[in-house]
Amino acid sequence: MADLHLNLDRSAGGLAAQIRRELREAIRSGRLAQATRLPATRELARDLGLSRGVVVEAYEQLVAEGLLEARTGVGTRVAVVPRRPPSREEEPDEGPDRGPEQMTDDGPRPTTPDLGAFPRQAWLGALRHVLTTLPHEAFDYGDPGGVPALREELAAYLRRVRAADATPDEVVIVAGVAQGVSLVMHALAAARGGPVVLAVENPSSVRQLPLLRRTGARIVPVPVDEEGIVVAALAGSGAQAVLVTPAHQYPTGVVLSPGRRAELIDWATRTGAVVVEDDYDAEFRFDRDPVGCLQGLAPDRVVLAGSVSKAMAPGLRLGWIVAPPPLAVAVRTARAELDLGSPVVDQYALAHLIGTGGYDRHLRRMRREYRIRRDALALALAEHLPGVEVRGISAGLHLYAECGGNVDAEELAVAAGRAGLSVEPVSAPGRNALVIGFARLPAHRVAAAVRDMARDMARDMASLTRPPRSRRGRGR
Ligand SMILES: Cc1ncc(COP(=O)(O)O)c(C=O)c1O
Repeated sequence: MADLHLNLDRSAGGLAAQIRRELREAIRSGRLAQATRLPATRELARDLGLSRGVVVEAYEQLVAEGLLEARTGVGTRVAVVPRRPPSREEEPDEGPDRGPEQMTDDGPRPTTPDLGAFPRQAWLGALRHVLTTLPHEAFDYGDPGGVPALREELAAYLRRVRAADATPDEVVIVAGVAQGVSLVMHALAAARGGPVVLAVENPSSVRQLPLLRRTGARIVPVPVDEEGIVVAALAGSGAQAVLVTPAHQYPTGVVLSPGRRAELIDWATRTGAVVVEDDYDAEFRFDRDPVGCLQGLAPDRVVLAGSVSKAMAPGLRLGWIVAPPPLAVAVRTARAELDLGSPVVDQYALAHLIGTGGYDRHLRRMRREYRIRRDALALALAEHLPGVEVRGISAGLHLYAECGGNVDAEELAVAAGRAGLSVEPVSAPGRNALVIGFARLPAHRVAAAVRDMARDMARDMASLTRPPRSRRGRGR
């Protein structure tokens, strides 16, 4: 049971409210970890020299807010809830020189794949092959742009699967999309001799903003509608580069329409801007024919960035960019100056896995499984939460849930987290929505989780409308 340090100002009155505030702050900052058991109300009241009712009132309110859980026989403990959703100040409408960044949350992401399905045997086989066949010299520093064997396999793979226009010289191996985008921004800034004005989709992945700001880019938000990024809004933005997610917009799940694709390329060609295509979950396309990447349509204007993070595991930190030759050289140089490149053994192993068809086999299997999970989640949401409209499910590992007028997305996110779903509220003006991941929840558990979430929401609504007197009365 935790010892609690609470700062109370006894002369100010409102002691229950002060206890609530202190506990809320301790939970949100992580000082009180999830599942920590709190002292019994009687004990805490005695320690603080207060009447027990004051502590009961504070605990009850926090239970109603979902921050604490009370169980008969177990006592009160900190709830297992998703971390604090991003606040309004964290939307992509500010320059790079803000205060300390708070979006460094490293909890499970809705877009994380099923890590239990990592192809351990196939990866082990590839590593064994590499370790038994590579000459000693191969373990030296590799090419900072990536080992040639992997660049060749990837160029062929991306041409075949994503309709990319790629030669091995245009491929640079990086430690994931995040690092790829970051290196591209550094290279563009160096080429231009100053900060780059970078347009980002709004809404977008708030987790990427700290990384983008760190490159010195000046960020300009550009709205997204049901066809994807609104290219007309780019025209007056002064952007020299734009970061887009055409295959499956994050978070809305919209696939960039053919008309918008043409407009975007036209805009980039007219203005000389660079389009950075974040192809983060493009391997997973369920309903319609695969949509090729933008890069294949305009290889001299578009940089494609992808990784194995959704196909296999983010922890591998293995990805690629495909860039026009001068930019590919600049990115390779940036990587050489930064850290001399990615681990060579994993690169050879991935080359072997792709070359022998193991990567394709794994993807085909995961595509079938994720489709089943996606269908189960969409069905359960329609049945138990009819006030929530599901969108963006033709691809990827998450869906976009738009909440109707009487459902609050942030409350729903808390209920979903408690029910074991991985979620992220969407923080953008005028949007009342959340992202729900379906990759890690087996289909047979989906219906129960969504039912729990719907019940939890109904209970929260009831507790918010219950008169405060009856709430106090119960605890005494
Ligand atoms: C939209 C988007 N882009 C990029 C990334 C980062 O990908 P990587 O692991 O390849 O760096 C993520 C990770 O969740 C993402 O959601």
